[in-house]
Amino acid sequence: MNFFVRSFSRSVIIVLMTLKGFGANAQSTVIPIETKNNAIVLRVGDDKRLSMVYFGGKLANNTEYAAVPKVTKQDKYDNVYNSAYTTSGTHNLLEPAIEVTHADGNKSLELQYVDHTVTKINDDVSLLSIRLKDSLYNFEVTLNYQTYYNENVTEQWSVITHHEKKDVVLNKYASANLYIQADSYWLNHYHGEWAQEMRAEEEQLNHGIKTLDSKLGSRADIFQPPVFMVSLNKPAGEDEGLVLYGNLEWSGNFRIDLEVDPTNNLRLIAGMNNYAANYTLKAGVAFETPKFVYTLSDKGKGEASRNLQSWARKYKVLDGQGPRLTLLNNWESTYFDFNNDKLSALLKDTKDLGVDLFLLDDGWFGNKYPRNGDHAGLGDWEVNKAKLPLGIPFLTKTAKQNGVKFGIWVEPEMVNPKSELYEKHPDWVVKQPNRPEFYMRNQLVLDLSNPAVQNFVFGVVDKLFVENPELAYIKWDCNALMYNAYSPYQKNQGNFYTDYVRGLYSVLDRLRAKYPKVPMMLCSGGGGRVDYGALKYFTEFWPSDNTEPIERVFIQWEYSYFYPALTSSNHVTDWGKQPIKFRTDVAMMGKLGFDIVVSKLKPEELAYCQGALKTYKEFSEAIWHGEQYRLQDPKTNDVASIMYVDSAKNNAIMFNYLVNQRYQAGSHLPIRMKGLQEDKMYEVSEVNMMPGHNSSFATATYSGKFLMTVGLNPDARSGRNSVLIAVRGK
Ligand code: GLA
Repeated sequence: MNFFVRSFSRSVIIVLMTLKGFGANAQSTVIPIETKNNAIVLRVGDDKRLSMVYFGGKLANNTEYAAVPKVTKQDKYDNVYNSAYTTSGTHNLLEPAIEVTHADGNKSLELQYVDHTVTKINDDVSLLSIRLKDSLYNFEVTLNYQTYYNENVTEQWSVITHHEKKDVVLNKYASANLYIQADSYWLNHYHGEWAQEMRAEEEQLNHGIKTLDSKLGSRADIFQPPVFMVSLNKPAGEDEGLVLYGNLEWSGNFRIDLEVDPTNNLRLIAGMNNYAANYTLKAGVAFETPKFVYTLSDKGKGEASRNLQSWARKYKVLDGQGPRLTLLNNWESTYFDFNNDKLSALLKDTKDLGVDLFLLDDGWFGNKYPRNGDHAGLGDWEVNKAKLPLGIPFLTKTAKQNGVKFGIWVEPEMVNPKSELYEKHPDWVVKQPNRPEFYMRNQLVLDLSNPAVQNFVFGVVDKLFVENPELAYIKWDCNALMYNAYSPYQKNQGNFYTDYVRGLYSVLDRLRAKYPKVPMMLCSGGGGRVDYGALKYFTEFWPSDNTEPIERVFIQWEYSYFYPALTSSNHVTDWGKQPIKFRTDVAMMGKLGFDIVVSKLKPEELAYCQGALKTYKEFSEAIWHGEQYRLQDPKTNDVASIMYVDSAKNNAIMFNYLVNQRYQAGSHLPIRMKGLQEDKMYEVSEVNMMPGHNSSFATATYSGKFLMTVGLNPDARSGRNSVLIAVRGK
């Protein structure tokens, strides 16, 4: 008997089905997991093993999923290579999704299907939970697939529990195990370093395992972020090709294995990294893995990114559908050297510039060990009396007088050895007890797996809010990797990496319970921590300390595949030799901020910035909440071109940046726009020009069809190295 569950039938509000009792027929249970365009099909075999037999376009008739043939050529591999959650120590000899040591020391696991339930959370969101159990050990795994129907996005995670007589050790515990069939697989992944974030590489996957991972503990993404794309059959383009995007929602060590198996199919296993992390799990305690989020598009990278961006705005990023604050940051204009007078002047500059908020960066704290450089004071979150004798209240008051908001920088997870905190609580610090300390940026990481440290970190931020109710923004930094990973608190060191991140999330949960909406920037010495696990608590992230604008075009471009524009904090700074217009135009393709000496701007430069903020305001709805379309890639063109269209398809803005400095580089041909309404008329004109400059681009009115079929040449070239085109519906 075939038993189909119309799991994601949109007409049904709540479907809760348990298939217990169908054990005798379980061999033919087929479980389709559908979104608007895609389907994953799971099947329970006659051995009760759960396998993934299909991942691709949704079929019109879902009863046909039962006809999906076996996915491996040899019967003996069916339900093994394509296991929906590969176990170890029994029949499987490939890379497992889960590996355990039972209470009696045995290392075998065989998971069999028990039952499944489908919960319709709302019209768009459904949760399928499948229970699997070992027949010999009291050990259970629930696989969860939460689908976002309209966004074509799935989040997958597992929950592991046992009721064995003693503790069980989890040696590996993936979030998701996918099985994909295609002729070939093209992996696009990223590597980086400080100021070199998000460098893309694409390669065809061969047989064997390609692993993307991090073992850095905190600031986990600095060498490699947990985001990737896999094009199926051939490398996908912006608007064509079949492509899967994946991203692990976890702010710690991750591991993503991509294995072309002996039958030429792709096994994908994603989760927390099990490196030095054998997790001791008590009986009856549920171990929940982070979510692995993915989307599949048959219309190329552009659609896949819009799927993910719209999911993120709606369901993941804090206040993803809300506004963002423009700001002036003082990091690059003062570094650690400021006082009341300097900051008062900067607060006035904030007002003159016309941004919403002033952000006070590092250096405002520490007395016994003043924070006058990065070598001391971190951890001592008392206002530095020499620099700021009137405290933070004076600054919030001055901000108010200037009609702007006030925000502040913290790095509460870290400590300088030269600090009162370190002197008082050496047992709160992550370090090997008998080995020399090893620093990054002269600092060490606090042991957030310890509840006392969690309370301290919560207290640091809470106190700031309690004492300064006007505080309107936090920049939360995290500048060190976890060397010498050892927790004085943990009995089982294998639990440390996991419990550190859980400790961090628990602090953030508490903060968000008390301060649900205050915008916070996720920063980590640049982009060392950018992931959806953290973005649940943050409104935006800092992509890189590298703010040289040509570099930024590339960095922001690559992040844009995975994260919506309103989450990318782009600050105009004095890095590089490009004029203020180019720097500002580049920062405007995300969340705009400044970190410049406003008082040193020439009058026409200040006027330009003020005008740019007005342009930004006019198009912020399109940039923050609209659809993003990549028109020309900076990696293969002289001019990078990207546009944003608001949801009504009424207002759009096109950014064009010259990224090649060679002779005669520029946009010589029309660039076709995307995302407009074909039969609607739009007036196009250049905006954001320096005062007194005329445009070589003629204002005119065209149909959407014309703009998308013929296109327009923005005339970006040397002397016009950034061109912003407003597209206003008539
Ligand atoms: C990190 C951040 C910078 C700045 C400094 C302050 O490097 O990325 O933006 O906040 O810390 O020390």
